[in-house]
Amino acid sequence: MKAAVYSKYGPPEVVAIAEVPKPVPQDNEVLVRIHAATITTADWRARSLEIPVGFGLFGRPAFGFFGPRKKVLGMDMSGTIESMGKDVTNFKIDDPVLAMTRSAFGCHAEYQVIAADGLIVRKPENLSFEQATALAFGGTTALDFLRRKGGIQQGERVLIVGASGCVGSAAVQIAKHFGAHVTGVCSTSNVELVRSIGADKVFDYKKQDYTTSAEKFDIIMDTTGTESFAHCQNSLSDGGKLLLVLASLGQNIGIGSPSRKSSKRAIAGVASERIEDLQSLSDMAANGEFMPVIDHVYPLDEIVEAHRRVDSGRKRGNVVISLVRNGDK
Ligand SMILES: NC(=O)c1ccc[n+]([C@@H]2O[C@H](COP(=O)([O-])OP(=O)(O)OC[C@H]3O[C@@H](n4cnc5c(N)ncnc54)[C@H](OP(=O)(O)O)[C@@H]3O)[C@@H](O)[C@H]2O)c1
Repeated sequence: MKAAVYSKYGPPEVVAIAEVPKPVPQDNEVLVRIHAATITTADWRARSLEIPVGFGLFGRPAFGFFGPRKKVLGMDMSGTIESMGKDVTNFKIDDPVLAMTRSAFGCHAEYQVIAADGLIVRKPENLSFEQATALAFGGTTALDFLRRKGGIQQGERVLIVGASGCVGSAAVQIAKHFGAHVTGVCSTSNVELVRSIGADKVFDYKKQDYTTSAEKFDIIMDTTGTESFAHCQNSLSDGGKLLLVLASLGQNIGIGSPSRKSSKRAIAGVASERIEDLQSLSDMAANGEFMPVIDHVYPLDEIVEAHRRVDSGRKRGNVVISLVRNGDK
């Protein structure tokens, strides 16, 4: 089968299309014929070893000391089930599915296997394969931060910094789903996009620093690594939370966090992807409450160009790889 392979860390050009063995499902696995996959900031980090400040020493142990351990990137996929192991009972051949392989990667390929009781759900019928795969990475991250780490409540005032990115555009829609009043922060060219996905208000950071307004927020969620508690503390309401999706090692261990006496909190950490979250997101999409934003869809053969777009740090929502070929349903 065809796959996008890399064998050394570096810029987009380290990735090339190659023939690799087609995976064979184990007894408890399904083989997915992939129609679409995303290139996310996680793929960018694994490919380039651009790791958040302070975490540099962890890059090679995580991804491979002498070169990438997993040669095919891609942590999410949508497609149809081509075959399955003998113990699989919850799926059938040709089922359209959406799945996440997490650190196993391997989705920038024509096929990938995943355990039938892993992170795999049926694709929402109203979403294309491209839209469905674009739901996964940003959606599970935003949902984990807003619901589990942030404890979002109906009627709260929520501000999302980086509202036009993959995680941010999902966070705007998920916060609206929970009944929050949502304010987005983005640059001038993305203001209309952020409004169109449901933000009640938008700050254009090129024109105004939101902390100069008198508004208070129950949750400030930063997906850009530009925020700090010192900068935004006066914009947090009593009991307010700063959620740092992209945080330095120092922020992760509490440097610069509020004092114990403060009612305010700064919360960082790694998002956990869970099957119930993937199902919730799929349900939200089916109900018309969540439509993943797609920046651009590239054919697999343009994988290097697609990586370049991710590396720009300016994508709007998701960069998607299409693997549709003759005979796909
Ligand atoms: N903690 C975790 O477990 C976890 C999970 C997933 C992702 N992450 C991290 O979260 C970060 C965001 O991921 P992503 O996939 O959402 O990134 P992304 O899609 O590449 O974000 C791109 C967006 O960021 C916006 N942006 C850049 N600088 C900005 C600024 N100063 N203010 C407001 N918006 C700004 C850009 O909009 P403009 O062009 O308008 O500026 C662009 O639309 C990544 O660093 C990723 O590693 C962490």
